[in-house]
Amino acid sequence: MTKIKIASTSDVSTNKVLKTKAGKQSVLVAKVGDSYCAVANKCPHLGLPMNSGKLQDGIITCPFHGAKFEISTGKSVGWVESTMGIKLPDFGKKILAMGKEPTDVASFAVSQEGEDLFINV
Ligand code: FES
Repeated sequence: MTKIKIASTSDVSTNKVLKTKAGKQSVLVAKVGDSYCAVANKCPHLGLPMNSGKLQDGIITCPFHGAKFEISTGKSVGWVESTMGIKLPDFGKKILAMGKEPTDVASFAVSQEGEDLFINV
């Protein structure tokens, strides 16, 4: 594993994700309460980027089909609920899920040294 600086604390705002890189991997960094957290910028549904998704109350919503994840843990808390912001009926959710079961997004433990934030990849 390699420790990589992903941001400075001053780069990260509450209720907004910061898109950054850890090596070749795109990562989203957020601040929830007093803690910093990071997840992969790759939705486990179809692998699309989530950086333009809404972050509210510690939950990030994928902008494509509405999957929801706890940004502090990566835990899936909602799966393929909409398309382009429009809520889907249950049969539409099943079709759009394309047989994929709810899956957590990869998350990373963030360490802080002074104003610098790091993850291990
Ligand atoms: S790509 Fe994120 S919910 Fe489909």
